[in-house]
Amino acid sequence: MVVVKAMKITTCFVLLCLVEITTQDPVPVVIWHGMGDSCCNPISMGSIKSLIEKQVQGIYVKSLEIGNNIAEDMENGFLMNVNDQITMACKLISNDSKLQNGYNSVGFSQGGQFLRAVAQRCPTPRMFNLVSVGGQHQGVYGFPKCPGDNSTLCNIVRKLLNYGAYVSFVQDHLVQAEYWQDPLNLDEYRNKSVFLADVNQERTKNPVYKENLLKLKNLVLVKFLQDTMVDPKESEWFGFYVPGQAKKLLSVFETPLYQQDWLGLKKLNETGRLHFLSSDSDHLRFTDDWFISNVINKFFK
Ligand SMILES: *[C@@H]1O[C@H](CO)[C@@H](O)[C@H](O)[C@H]1NC(C)=O
Ligand SMILES: *[C@@H]1O[C@H](CO)[C@@H](O)[C@H](O)[C@H]1NC(C)=O
Ligand SMILES: *[C@@H]1O[C@H](CO)[C@@H](O)[C@H](O)[C@H]1NC(C)=O
Ligand SMILES: *[C@@H]1O[C@H](CO)[C@@H](O)[C@H](O)[C@H]1NC(C)=O
Repeated sequence: MVVVKAMKITTCFVLLCLVEITTQDPVPVVIWHGMGDSCCNPISMGSIKSLIEKQVQGIYVKSLEIGNNIAEDMENGFLMNVNDQITMACKLISNDSKLQNGYNSVGFSQGGQFLRAVAQRCPTPRMFNLVSVGGQHQGVYGFPKCPGDNSTLCNIVRKLLNYGAYVSFVQDHLVQAEYWQDPLNLDEYRNKSVFLADVNQERTKNPVYKENLLKLKNLVLVKFLQDTMVDPKESEWFGFYVPGQAKKLLSVFETPLYQQDWLGLKKLNETGRLHFLSSDSDHLRFTDDWFISNVINKFFK
C-alpha cells in the first residue's frame, strides 16, 4: 500500500511539473548595442534579435533604444553621460511588463560594460545571465579604429580624448572618456572617471555592487582574439596593463579587483558561473553559428 501511494504522489508531481514547464514562456532577452550602432539597425542588432527569435520559440527580445529615435540612440552612444544612460536603461527595463519575472541580457562592445552596470545598480527585475560580447570591462587606452560610419562623431571623440579624457566637461559628456583608463595616470583615473572607476570599485567599495553582481546565474565574457578595435583587447576578459606602463598585461586573476574580490568575480569563478569565451576573429566579427552554439543554446534556452 505504501509503495502505491508513493507512486501516485510521484506521478502527480511529475505531471504538474510537465504542465508547468510546457506553459512557461522562455526567459526574455535584453540587448544593448555598441558604439556607432543603434538598437534597430537591421544588419546589426535587428539581425541578432531575429536570430534569437528564430532559435527560441516565443521568446521576447528587447533591444534598448537610448533616446527617442534611432539617430538619437546612435549619437547618445558617443555623447550622453553613461550614468544617465544606465538610469534610462534601468527605467526601460523596469517599466516593461514582459521583463518583470527576470531576463537574460547580451551587450555588444561598450553595451557589455553598460549592462554590467545595470546588473550592479538595478537588481529589480532580476538579470539572470549576462553575456558581454567584446565589452571593455577594464576600459580602453586607445581606439585604433572608430566604428560606425559617422566620421563627424569619431573626430569629436578623438579631439576630446586628446584634449584630456579626465577634464571634467569631457568626463561629463563623452562616453568613451568615461571608460578611458590611462595606466600612466591611474591616480587621476581613479579620482576622476565618472563611470568606470565607480563600477569597478576603484574608489570607495560599494558592497551593493558586489551583492547585486553575485545575483547573476552566469557572467559570460567574450573576447575577440584578433580584435583591432579595442586597446587592450584583454579588457574584454577584465585584464589590463600592468600599472605605470602600456605594454605588459595582467590577466584578471592577477588584478586586485579579482584577488580582493571587490566585485564578486572570484566568487562567481569559484562557483562555476564565470565563463571566458573567445572568438578567433576581429571585433564583433562572429558568425551566426558561433553565436547560436556558444551563446543562445547555452545561456538563452
Ligand atoms: C515608465 O512608466 C511611467 C509610468 O507609466 C512613465 O511615466 C515613464 O515615462 C516611463 N519611463 C520610461 C523610461 O519608459
Ligand atoms: C553624424 O552625427 C552628427 C551629430 O550627431 C549629425 O549631425 C550628422 O548628421 C551625422 N552624419 C551622418 C552622415 O549621419
Ligand atoms: C587623487 O585624490 C587623492 C585623494 O583626494 C589626492 O591626494 C591626489 O592628489 C589625487 N590625485 C590626482 C592625480 O588627482
Ligand atoms: C577559476 O575557476 C576555474 C574553474 O573552476 C578554476 O580552474 C580556476 O582555478 C579558478 N581560477 C582562480 C584564479 O581562482
